[in-house]
Amino acid sequence: MDFRFQATPAAGLVAVAADALLVVVVGGRVPHSLDKGLAALLADAVAQGDFEFKPARCLYLHRPAGVKAARLAFVAAADESAKAFKAAVSSALAALKPLGVTHLAVARAGGGVLHETHAEALVGAVVDAVYVYRHTKPSAPAAPRLAGVTLLAGRKEGASVTRGLKRGQALAAGVELARECGNRPANHATPTYLASVAKSLGKQFGFAVEVFDRKQIEKIGMGSFLAVAQGSDEPPRFIVMKYQGAAKGKAPVVLVGKGITFDSGGISLKPGAEMDEMKFDMGGAASVLGTLRAIGELKPRINVVGLIAACENLPSARAVKPGDVVKSLSGQTIEILNTDAEGRLILCDALTYAERFEPAAVVDIATLTGAIVVALGHHHCGLFSPDDRLAAELLAASRSALDPAWRMPLDEEYNENLKSHFADIPNIAGRAGGAITAAMFLKRFTAGKYPWAHLDIAGTGWKSGAAKGATGRPVGLLTHFVLARAR
Ligand code: BES
Ligand code: MN
Ligand code: ZN
Repeated sequence: MDFRFQATPAAGLVAVAADALLVVVVGGRVPHSLDKGLAALLADAVAQGDFEFKPARCLYLHRPAGVKAARLAFVAAADESAKAFKAAVSSALAALKPLGVTHLAVARAGGGVLHETHAEALVGAVVDAVYVYRHTKPSAPAAPRLAGVTLLAGRKEGASVTRGLKRGQALAAGVELARECGNRPANHATPTYLASVAKSLGKQFGFAVEVFDRKQIEKIGMGSFLAVAQGSDEPPRFIVMKYQGAAKGKAPVVLVGKGITFDSGGISLKPGAEMDEMKFDMGGAASVLGTLRAIGELKPRINVVGLIAACENLPSARAVKPGDVVKSLSGQTIEILNTDAEGRLILCDALTYAERFEPAAVVDIATLTGAIVVALGHHHCGLFSPDDRLAAELLAASRSALDPAWRMPLDEEYNENLKSHFADIPNIAGRAGGAITAAMFLKRFTAGKYPWAHLDIAGTGWKSGAAKGATGRPVGLLTHFVLARAR
């Protein structure tokens, strides 16, 4: 897909050459800035009751007189924000997608200046709309013919809009990679496969990638990670990616992804309904891969390390059992009271491994708990951090990337039930505040080591039902966070 900026022609939008011209309208009436011809068409549609200035309302016209573009569409936006712009474009694309449009021009009427964020949002909306999962379904409907998108804006907006398009494309490629990894079934997207994706990213963008197998993971001493991996014949992988954009000695940001390529629950087996969706339990890992892809392209001046612990969680004769006690890389022993609370078991070892990079900050990303879905639903992911500055940075990145996150508490009081008779720590602490106690477990492995935050993406990493599929979140949030730190 090709994205470019074009200065709005002096003769107005009527003179724009494209298969389709989409005009995003802001405000409650026909904007003054709209060319006369277009304003007349829009006013007439309003008079006929065919169009209203309500978010997502769309009007489509084929070969309208006096307009150079072969098709014309109007869509209303709630306000002049990038968020509203993205929502408006997305709803218009739902209508335009099945058409034969190969080159789309997008403009905005009413509202102020178009910023970098609008351009970035446009790319996100377009790439999102044209993605089709195909890898194991060759019969999937053909992808839309759309091949090029032009964003029209004032000449003065050109530089920032062009920057936004570039950033948007890098981001979109990262999101798409994360979606594709997530959507591939567990017999395809194995730990070995995730490692191969990491390696090819390293080759493509020139960063170092190391992959450790079961024996090497044993040697490192990740007893907790291995306890989860031991139930499956599918070999586990520990993946280390090192992007170097700053001086060698500069403390890196470390991103840690949960890469459970299938979560059956293990001996604490999950119920059957929707268990297929546990192939998405590697969404955290996918977001680390996607973010490194975006970073590889944008080349910010910062060092970033990506860590992925990847394995399956299956029941078998060798599987870890409730009550088993294992020794984590940190030296702390863990009583595994529920084998389905496996995410924290693989993450704690990865988080301890992160210490060796003497990081400036560590962010882990995990489809960790059903409880976060109860708490926040499918819109905001859960953000946990004892560090107010880091939390504020991540929330700011979340806002600028239009990738919502909501801060959750981590007070020491939540440690109350995190006590074991037979080990330093149990891996569960009862039903109440399940997302928080999971984060508290991770806090035991990070406190005093480095600034740390945890993103629980169990509610936002994928969609169920008719639109079933991975979302690619929070690649946007993470990439914005890294870019802001590089400034
Ligand atoms: N991968 C799941 C979390 C999950 C569950 C995500 C449902 C999305 C939907 C995680 O490994 C898990 O099973 N967590 C348990 C923890 C519990 C046993 C303390 C959960 O949330 O039920
Ligand atoms: Mn589980
Ligand atoms: Zn899981």
